[in-house]
Amino acid sequence: MVKFRIVLTAPMREEGVRLLESEAELKIFPKPPNEEELVIAVRDADALLVTLNVERATRKVIESGSKLKIIARHGVGFDNVDLEAADEKGIWVTTAPVLNETVADQAFSLLLTLARRTCEANYFVKSKRWTVRDPMLFTGTDVWGKTLGIIGLGRIGVCIAERAKGFKMRLLYYDIVRKGELENRFGVEFEPLETLLRDSDFVTISCALTQQTRGLIGEEELKKMKNTAFIINVARGPIIDHNALVKALKEKWIAGAGIDVFYKEPLPVDDPIIGLESILITPHLASNTIECRKRMAVTAAEEILRVLHGEKPLFPVNSPFKE
Ligand code: DGY
Repeated sequence: MVKFRIVLTAPMREEGVRLLESEAELKIFPKPPNEEELVIAVRDADALLVTLNVERATRKVIESGSKLKIIARHGVGFDNVDLEAADEKGIWVTTAPVLNETVADQAFSLLLTLARRTCEANYFVKSKRWTVRDPMLFTGTDVWGKTLGIIGLGRIGVCIAERAKGFKMRLLYYDIVRKGELENRFGVEFEPLETLLRDSDFVTISCALTQQTRGLIGEEELKKMKNTAFIINVARGPIIDHNALVKALKEKWIAGAGIDVFYKEPLPVDDPIIGLESILITPHLASNTIECRKRMAVTAAEEILRVLHGEKPLFPVNSPFKE
């Protein structure tokens, strides 16, 4: 007998869907719903699974869910969920922190591809233009031995640091919290943002989007970077001021950027950044591997079932029931 009603804002891997289906009736939106559609859908729902980061569990959505007990994010970012409204209504908000290694892989993939100009070189050969053996073709830049500045030494930042160690890089980090234990473990040095930007050959962004980090990297910050440096963002688009980045790339304040996340997703097709040569763009897919998507779906589904069965979730990001 179906006991619960659960709304999913987009399809997810069947491993997670099957878990939920065994106990609940599911409404799965084939494409991301707008606020009105979500308000109607959650009216009689026990749980809401926010699959992508583009759907917003706003106060209006949360307040219309009179039976809602949990809002589970299929991912780690929760900037699209109104935590205050959830707290007030006694609703758990959870994440699925099982993507750190996978996202760090993609940060490194962008970094290496930019440094070694792999995309350009691939396109060059495939478009049948490799006619002369030229030793200077697509001369890139070394990664090993260079300085990497990590903005946000949280779970993903640590995985990026571990990879960078293997590349014999010098590691700097900037975070709102000083991480003494990690400094010892990885030999990563804390620096003020300004110094990190000035000294790094590669800068990766892996912090959460908060009021403090929105627009953290603007014109002033990009101008502080070396003109040979690259910036990589696998966190959230609005952490970098988009127009400032366009300007920095056009005017060559920096050598290039590898960007997986944007102020608006999908990125509007007429956005000027798309046409710039020194940017490598992926469509918010840093956690998109088969293994990771399975882990995310199962973790989010298990959190929902835990709460609906009266247990505490394992990965809450709020505390709606103060003890
Ligand atoms: C997250 O976890 O929020 C990632 O951006 C994937 O959605």
